[in-house]
Amino acid sequence: MTETDTTASSAFEAYLAEHAHERLESYKEMIRIPSISALHEHAADCRRTAEWIRDDLERIGMNHAEVCETGGHPIVYADWLHAPGRPTVLVYCHYDVQPVDPLDLWTSPPFEPVVDGNRILGRGVSDDKGQLHAHLRAIEALLATRDGLPVNLKVCFEGEEESSSVHLDPWLEANRDRLAADFALISDTGFFEGNIPAITIALRGLMYAQIDVTGTALDLHSGGFGGVVENPANALARIITGLKDEEGRILIPGFYDDVVELDPDERRMIAELPFDEAAYLEELGLPELHGEVGYTTLERRGVRPTLDVNGIWGGFQGEGSKTIIPAHAHAKVSCRLVSNQDPVAIFAALREHVLAIAPRGVRVEVRDLGHGLPVHTPIDHPATQAAARALKATFGREPVYLREGGSIPICASFQRILGLPVVLMGFVPPNDQAHAPNEWNDLENYEASIRAIARMWDEVAELEPAALRG
Ligand code: BES
Ligand code: MN
Ligand code: MN
Repeated sequence: MTETDTTASSAFEAYLAEHAHERLESYKEMIRIPSISALHEHAADCRRTAEWIRDDLERIGMNHAEVCETGGHPIVYADWLHAPGRPTVLVYCHYDVQPVDPLDLWTSPPFEPVVDGNRILGRGVSDDKGQLHAHLRAIEALLATRDGLPVNLKVCFEGEEESSSVHLDPWLEANRDRLAADFALISDTGFFEGNIPAITIALRGLMYAQIDVTGTALDLHSGGFGGVVENPANALARIITGLKDEEGRILIPGFYDDVVELDPDERRMIAELPFDEAAYLEELGLPELHGEVGYTTLERRGVRPTLDVNGIWGGFQGEGSKTIIPAHAHAKVSCRLVSNQDPVAIFAALREHVLAIAPRGVRVEVRDLGHGLPVHTPIDHPATQAAARALKATFGREPVYLREGGSIPICASFQRILGLPVVLMGFVPPNDQAHAPNEWNDLENYEASIRAIARMWDEVAELEPAALRG
């Protein structure tokens, strides 16, 4: 860092200190808009959030701030391109959030954010509005205290990540030129084991399907018909048992054909992560962990494919007993996928297998509910290494490199459609209860992440654009 940078960074710190109260209020204001992308009754709230972000981008000095139509919930775009010769970065976060049910388990209303010590509580404080907000505040403080940003920035904030990003790819295709950059930075991942800074270098893909088993048009009296017809709920249970064995191996023929096995170096890297399995089990409150035989917990979580039932229903669910053969039964089944599994091929294989093992005497349908590709990001890319330096400078220790079990389907879209290298740098706690009741974020990390983001732009400013494109 040069002399001027030091001066600039104390002005940056002073600006952040001066605006601390305002910043927290603005964070809460954004959380108060219930931008649940999956529920159509919240479509107007998603749009309102997009407009809130656009107005904020305009206020802090970004250019071309726009709420872009996609056919679904809009994408917010803005840029600042006044650093000639410096790299151009495309920044991605999502402003949509998950539904809030079960509501009765929240200790405070999900869209009325509450600060409790170092924690802020509310839907989206972590995934992913908190990270989006940190990016806004880093840009704001840089533009307010320097002549300009150290790099060229384009921001793309999505509103449908939590519902499979269905409109994103066509929008990327149509906006290829506008989105041209040297690399993309995605802030939608987190730290490791409490508070260890991390860069995510792989994400699993996803295949999501629904199995519908249908018998008669109406429920039957189980006395009059039990024993002479196939029961859709029993049939569904048999189908599900046929998908995975007791050792955690998935029984769909061909399922593992394209799975890339880890080499010993990669296994060693994972084994060396400071992971406390006993504490993990304790936190989960389970009698024991369970997974595919032959792999460690971190391997099962990050680099092995899975098959899980997300929900199963059918027949009588009320109080007491009701003697019926249900007319139908259903299950939502998903697989986390790893390189080089293809979600489309995996869906086809699942469907074929389900139909092959389906008991006779019922009708079975398997429907595709969406997918995302598994991805890797390059650990030795100069932008990844710039992120590592920014994290180290901010948090005082080297980041660990993680293979995450979750999925961010747009990551593959940035690589494939825009041809961009991707860096996954995020700041939220691994036990933030994202998607669950009482989602929280660590306010100290949120504050530090603003510094880390600004530091990242300073680190990137030192790099040659040509060296980033590889
Ligand atoms: N931020 C998560 C992805 C994530 C989860 C990254 C855990 C790292 C660790 C993202 O918002 C998410 O929830 N993704 C979905 C994708 C799906 C809706 C297509 C997921 O992983 O279930
Ligand atoms: Mn997210
Ligand atoms: Mn999420």
